[in-house]
Amino acid sequence: MSVHKEIKRITTNTLMEFKHEGEKISMLTAYDYSMARIIDAAGMDVILVGDSASNVMAGHETTLPITLEQMIYHASSVVRGVKRALVVVDLPFGYYQGNSRLALESAIRIMKEAGAHAVKLEGGAEIRESIERILTAGIPVMGHLGLTPQSIYKFGTYTVRAKEEAEAQKLLEDAYLLDKIGCFALVLEKIPAALAEKVSKSITIPTIGIGAGGGTDGQVLVSHDLLGITQEFRPRFLRRYLNLFDDIKNAVGQYVQDVKSRDFPNENEQY
Ligand code: KIV
Repeated sequence: MSVHKEIKRITTNTLMEFKHEGEKISMLTAYDYSMARIIDAAGMDVILVGDSASNVMAGHETTLPITLEQMIYHASSVVRGVKRALVVVDLPFGYYQGNSRLALESAIRIMKEAGAHAVKLEGGAEIRESIERILTAGIPVMGHLGLTPQSIYKFGTYTVRAKEEAEAQKLLEDAYLLDKIGCFALVLEKIPAALAEKVSKSITIPTIGIGAGGGTDGQVLVSHDLLGITQEFRPRFLRRYLNLFDDIKNAVGQYVQDVKSRDFPNENEQY
C-alpha cells in the first residue's frame, strides 16, 4: 500500500522523490475509461496506455500494427477516467524511429489531443535524436530498454534479453544515456534481475521493471495479465491476482441460461 495515498496528483517529480525515499512505484496498463477509473481509484502511481493495446484490445499478434490515432483514442479515454495517476502513453511503432520531426509531431498530438502527461519510447542511442527533440518541447519522456516488443522481428523471440555481456554492457550504456539526456524514468523489460538492480543503482532516474526482478524502483504489468483476462500468456514473472476470463465467462454463461429459461427478467426487473 502506498504511503503517499494523500498525494493529489502524481507528477514526474513525485516519482523521483519516491526513488530517493525508497518507496516503490506502481504502474499498470489501461486502455479505456472504465478500467482507468478503477485502477486510479486503487491508488496506482502510473497508468501506462501501452501499445500492448494492439495485443489485448485489438487481438494482433504484435504491437506493430497499432496507429497513432488508435493510441490517441485509447489515451484520451484513459485520461478522462484518471484523477491521481500520471498517465504515460506509448509512441507507436513507425512514429519515431529515424524521424525526429515525426516523433515530435506525434508526441505533441498525444499530449494535445489525449491530454496525456508523458510519452514512452523504446530504444537507446539509436533513437537519441527523437527523444531529445521531444524533450525540447517540454514533453516528459519515459525510456524502455531490454525486451522492446516493437523490435520483435529483430529479436525473433520474447525470451530474456541482455544475458550476454555485450548486450548487458550496451543496455547499461543506453540507461546512462537516457538518464543524461533527460528521460524522467526507464522501463526495464525481461532482463536478468542482477543487471536490472545494477542499472537501478547506477542511474539517477527511477527504473520500472517487468520481468526484471525486485531490484528496480517500481513494477509494471499489463492489466489484462494481472486480472487473468488473458489466459495463454504465462511467463514466470507474471503474478495473476484474478481469473477474470473464467469469472466473466461463467457470469455471461449464467445470463444466457437465464434468458433462455425465461428466468430473466423476473417481476422485479420490469416496469
Ligand atoms: O505496452 C506495454 O504494455 C508496455 C509494458 C509491457 C511496459 O510497454
